[in-house]
Amino acid sequence: MAGKLLSIEGIDGCGKSTHARLLSQWLRSKGYETVVTDEPTGGPIGRIIKQALRGKLKLPVAAEALLFAADRMQHVAEVIKPALDAGKVVITERYTYSSLAYQSARGLPMPWVEAINRGAMKPDLTIIIDVPVEVALTRMRRSRKLDKFESDPELQRRVRANYLRLARQKGLRVVNGSRAIEEVQAEIRRIVDAALGPRPPTCLSAPRTAGS
Ligand code: TYD
Repeated sequence: MAGKLLSIEGIDGCGKSTHARLLSQWLRSKGYETVVTDEPTGGPIGRIIKQALRGKLKLPVAAEALLFAADRMQHVAEVIKPALDAGKVVITERYTYSSLAYQSARGLPMPWVEAINRGAMKPDLTIIIDVPVEVALTRMRRSRKLDKFESDPELQRRVRANYLRLARQKGLRVVNGSRAIEEVQAEIRRIVDAALGPRPPTCLSAPRTAGS
């Protein structure tokens, strides 16, 4: 049986990585095999994107959008699709909705961004962790130096508005990420539990019999 693709989205500093990790731990404790992965990837195209984010490379916004889409196609082919074929639950920190929210906030028409991402498979579930920009900025400033997108509060505000609009239009789940980690995670688990349904995937470990 095919696995499931879950994407975790939100503005920079919303807590995606923390919640993806905690969600994976919980799913594993229930017997699922999981893969946690993220975009931009560490692959060749992702590395070019990261140079641009660090300000080391200047790219036209459309080229940037095409690189994010190309990185995604490689991510699907090399990581996501093989894991789904093996029946795993794939949790990706960022996916197509990141491009729709960010690249349109960078001035590109949403239908074009959608068109260049048509080759990427649809996620089974997308959860947006929503936090006000000020909350996210304070969290990030505590821990590290900010990159080009992270240090632009106006961009982050447009991205947040795009995510909330996309959630209404496409029925994505929005979780209030300003609360305590445990509360946010509990809500994410309830949503994922309902989405995975009662049927266990084939990767669910077989019950141990006496002597095995
Ligand atoms: P981020 O998740 O912050 O990566 P890391 O944790 O490695 O820093 O992603 C980097 C930035 O890229 C972030 O500001 C969002 C942006 N981004 C897009 O603009 N479009 C996309 O399609 C993706 C995947 C990310």
